[in-house]
Amino acid sequence: MVEHKRIGILTSGGDCAGLNPAIRAVVYRAVGTYSWEVMGIRQATQGLMERPPQTLKLEIEKIDPLLMSGGTILGTTNKGDPFAFPMPDGTLHDRSEEIIEGYRLLGLDALIGIGGDGSLAILRKLAQQGNLNLVGIPKTIDNDVSCTELSIGFNTAVKIATEALDRLHFTAASHSRVIILEVMGRDAGHIALNAGIAGGADVILIPEIPYKIDNICSYIRKRQDLGKNYSLVVVAEAVRTETGELVTQDDLFGKSRYGGIGHYLADKICVCSDAETRVTVLGHIQRGGVPSPTDRLVASAFGVAAVDLIAEGKYDEMVTWQNRQVVSVPIAEAIAKYRAVDPNDTLVKTARGMGICLGD
Ligand code: F6P
Repeated sequence: MVEHKRIGILTSGGDCAGLNPAIRAVVYRAVGTYSWEVMGIRQATQGLMERPPQTLKLEIEKIDPLLMSGGTILGTTNKGDPFAFPMPDGTLHDRSEEIIEGYRLLGLDALIGIGGDGSLAILRKLAQQGNLNLVGIPKTIDNDVSCTELSIGFNTAVKIATEALDRLHFTAASHSRVIILEVMGRDAGHIALNAGIAGGADVILIPEIPYKIDNICSYIRKRQDLGKNYSLVVVAEAVRTETGELVTQDDLFGKSRYGGIGHYLADKICVCSDAETRVTVLGHIQRGGVPSPTDRLVASAFGVAAVDLIAEGKYDEMVTWQNRQVVSVPIAEAIAKYRAVDPNDTLVKTARGMGICLGD
């Protein structure tokens, strides 16, 4: 018999499809199996800074629609490191103790944090400082969290990017164009590589494999010689220019974001291939929408396993997907390294084996 507990759950970092199914699974396991209480914390750690802490009651009777809904009912943020939190007067303030106090005010026995590597690193630092019982669940469309083959949100993002390619084939063919699809993924090329193969791209460019414009152009010209009147290029947002510069855009507040490599390539390819080029930047469409069946499964499995870790008193651990098993690893291990695409990965070999141009 596991003693009664009150646990908190929060979602942190960029949203993605599958967060709500994970929340649903946590409630089913914690409330349904163990008869615990689950408090949803709003807006990531910011909900714990508020007084009273901002929470959402999660009731088992009302959570079923979460399975097929995108985003997160708890809200999230990917700004505002609590250790250097931007205040209205422009100063940065360490608000970590307020968050720890918020956890205590709610009377939590444990906290489930659903986040990517950045969020999990912050949550772990808070947990260490305040002696909080933390369990992590990896999520990110970028799939760049170490120690897990899958993070929540990745599969849906790949599905959306694949569907975009499916559509682009027809319009590219109709106009004899080269169409470049720029996808997200932060510093890793997982979305580009997976969607590129699944969606039949001719050229896939990822940050992990340096390319030459000449290689792309001669590949496209060879296709033209074979009578293939169009080509599709998928490029990950963090791919650099041929000479190694990052392509970013600044917002009004001076914050830089990836964006623009698609247009850079379009200009280069247009000149050397003599084909008309067009660019589609998929953007946040990759993060939204109905979670795919795989994301629902991964999220459900992670949610159940995270609650079970708490039942076993196993904290400072992150649930992971390895060889179709859910196991856990120390959060410290998961955040120690960034999971980029391994140039010897099976899918890189698959792409090469199918004659897809990787630009090198
Ligand atoms: O980490 C997820 C992600 O979607 C990245 O792929 C992308 O670079 C970034 O977040 C976009 O962030 P924002 O939502 O702040 O524009």
